[in-house]
Amino acid sequence: MTYDPFAPEVMADPAEAGRRLAGCPVHRFDGVEPPFWTLSHHRDVLSALRDPATFSSRFGQGMHYTEEHSMKSDAPVHTFFRKLVRKAFTPRAVAQMEPRIERIVAELLDGFAGRGEADLYQAFASPLPTIVIAEMLGVPARDTGRFKGWSDAWVAAMGSPDPEAFAPRIAEMREYLLEHVLRRQELEASGRGLPDDLISGLVLAEEDGERLTAEDVVNVVRQLLVGGNETTSSLITNALVRLTERPSLLQGMAGDPSLVERIVEESLRYDSPVLGLFRTTTRTVELHDSVIPEGAKVMLHYGAANRDPLVFSDPGRFDVDRDAQELRSHLAFGFGPHVCLGAALSRLEGRIALRQIAERLPGLVLAAPPERVTPFLLWGKRSLPARWTLGE
Ligand code: HEM
Repeated sequence: MTYDPFAPEVMADPAEAGRRLAGCPVHRFDGVEPPFWTLSHHRDVLSALRDPATFSSRFGQGMHYTEEHSMKSDAPVHTFFRKLVRKAFTPRAVAQMEPRIERIVAELLDGFAGRGEADLYQAFASPLPTIVIAEMLGVPARDTGRFKGWSDAWVAAMGSPDPEAFAPRIAEMREYLLEHVLRRQELEASGRGLPDDLISGLVLAEEDGERLTAEDVVNVVRQLLVGGNETTSSLITNALVRLTERPSLLQGMAGDPSLVERIVEESLRYDSPVLGLFRTTTRTVELHDSVIPEGAKVMLHYGAANRDPLVFSDPGRFDVDRDAQELRSHLAFGFGPHVCLGAALSRLEGRIALRQIAERLPGLVLAAPPERVTPFLLWGKRSLPARWTLGE
């Protein structure tokens, strides 16, 4: 079966391509170096996620072999980092963010709601998660524009045939973050108080008497930026596209928190912002009469798994009335030891964003076809021209 993840028709409609992949559950793609395998059945992707001893993160989660540190590794290193970072993303910590996110969303909408039209990616979905994470990290709001450029460069490098092209921007990001970390370490060494933010939390956090080095903190923060920004923007833009196709859902959201929640969940399944990530095999794997050699790069196709008819009834339908269990069976946040740490935060951002948009942009419609984000691993919009009705 021919399947090229970079082909224009696959880029334009990855879900449809994922459906075709179902007929070839272990697909080998030779169009890049190294070649890679793709698993697309829900069951196989889940089994691989549950078996990090065979499907290792040790060489990165992109399509190239990279020497990874901190979170992008296997136990016990990964477990150590995850325990430390998890402390910042407890349900309580996330719930505390709610009023701030409500405020940030309202302020962004204040900036353009009165105009009757805007690019909702540029004006809203793109800045929102960057501002939220910048506030959590404790870096100046004026720097959020630079954050965005850096995280985009990192994501682009993961899915690019020439990752070196992005090295200068990635180095710039590292220096910027390192400066913030070192400043907090100096404050601590001199006995002065540290600001109450996520970077300080990571600098001070201890697990079994051990702390993170400055370089470790930089790696973790970078991962939060890279993992949380475009993905959350995509959740919002993808959901908005589906909602403009279904005005009754848009109208129904006001005063129905359960509907907002179900829209977010179904959007994550139907339009998974992360279409897939990679693992590297630590041994030969035999699956569906195919052999994946040791040391191979394997893409776990979350997007395709989320359209698996064995798990989701009528998977090609955007259906917010699926039963609760089915709605939550998607793998949009991965599963197992590396399951997304920002899931609760991004769900919260998504819910607040969609609800306020429904309230403040009545009669929302697309003004032009949206454009897709460029990395093949991701699915979201990088432009979303829209217009709405202005009140009297
Ligand atoms: C809709 C938005 C998001 C989606 C779809 C998403 C998706 C994912 C996925 C699929 C993984 C698993 C990676 C793997 O297979 O190994 C992951 C991991 C991760 N995500 Fe998210 N993410 C989102 C938002 C966020 C946010 C807002 C943050 C933090 C600010 C975040 C932080 C992380 C971290 C730290 C990991 C690594 C966890 C580990 O390796 O132990 N994500 N995310």
